[in-house]
Amino acid sequence: MSKILVTGGTGYIGSHTVVELINEGFEVVIADNLSNSKSGSLDGIEKITGVRPAFEQIDLCDKSKTEALLKKYPDIEAIIHFAAYKAVGESVSQPLKYYHNNLGSLINLLELMQQYSIPNMVFSSSCTVYGQPEKLPVTEDAPVQPATSPYGNTKQISEGIIRDTVAASANINCIALRYFNPVGAHPSALIGELPVGVPNNLVPFITQTAIGIREQLSVFGNDYNTPDGSCIRDYIHVVDLAKAHVVAVRRLVENRNRAKFEMFNLGTGRGVSVLELVHAFEKATGVKLNYKIVGRRSGDTEQVWADTAYANKELGWKAQSTLEETLKSAWDWEVYYKESGGWK
Ligand code: UFG
Repeated sequence: MSKILVTGGTGYIGSHTVVELINEGFEVVIADNLSNSKSGSLDGIEKITGVRPAFEQIDLCDKSKTEALLKKYPDIEAIIHFAAYKAVGESVSQPLKYYHNNLGSLINLLELMQQYSIPNMVFSSSCTVYGQPEKLPVTEDAPVQPATSPYGNTKQISEGIIRDTVAASANINCIALRYFNPVGAHPSALIGELPVGVPNNLVPFITQTAIGIREQLSVFGNDYNTPDGSCIRDYIHVVDLAKAHVVAVRRLVENRNRAKFEMFNLGTGRGVSVLELVHAFEKATGVKLNYKIVGRRSGDTEQVWADTAYANKELGWKAQSTLEETLKSAWDWEVYYKESGGWK
């Protein structure tokens, strides 16, 4: 049974990936400093899978503690590195917090991978590296555009750090997964997204509005050059995304990667506008949403969705869920979280 270290494993995408890893027979060790997640997700993971993964509350910027963790759990075959700050707006006001945490933790892990002969990493990257692509859907070989936020820049720099390290290290391989817009929750509703404070992202804002935590959703702009004037994204169910991590880790562990550093788009291949999504939510849940159109949000990309052909072919993976299923799962999680009294 392969042992996998999942950094950020109590977080949104991390916890869903841990569930899929356990379901597929992997042994999981989670490292998370709980700065943007709660240990309640461990209870959810245990209820879903019947297994409580090993959990270490550590900050990966602390190299000696990270080293101690690797000594405590020898024989780790791969690291899935989710742990990072991810709020675009906050990264603009506090750039050094983002550079320090997102780059410092990655460098520590790569150094320790060399030192302790850990050969494989799956890295959480983002479609933000493409900016506003000239051609849609966007393929993996589209040019990387100048980052529009320090957060986005940390993802670009991280890919560069990994590329150079992999090139210089005979025994390190990496797959970077470029996520489009992960949404939804596990169908059990026992784990899901837990935004701290007012959500920045569309779907948690919608579910919080629908349940009465927020009064009204603001739709940022209806004057874009798109069919209905609102921005277009590629919304992928978090469970589909999580399953792609299992496929990627298996590819590395079984030495089936073609290059030492590979990257794949993780999306559905379908572009959906903000207004389409709002109406799909209403249809999927039967809940009417209070929303109004307001001005554009600065820094927003007009439209982006994934060309998934390469990931579909090379990984043998494809997103399965419909948009309605995805949005219903986000709503079920919001309702469950409220009714169960929430996580400590
Ligand atoms: N939106 C609204 N109202 C809201 C929130 C969002 O209309 O209250 C709109 C945005 O303007 C955008 C769409 O919904 O058009 C999606 O916005 P999100 O904030 O949910 O997602 P983004 O696509 O802006 O950002 C996501 C990730 C980032 C990543 C980026 C890459 O959250 O981490 O994709 O493009 F950098």
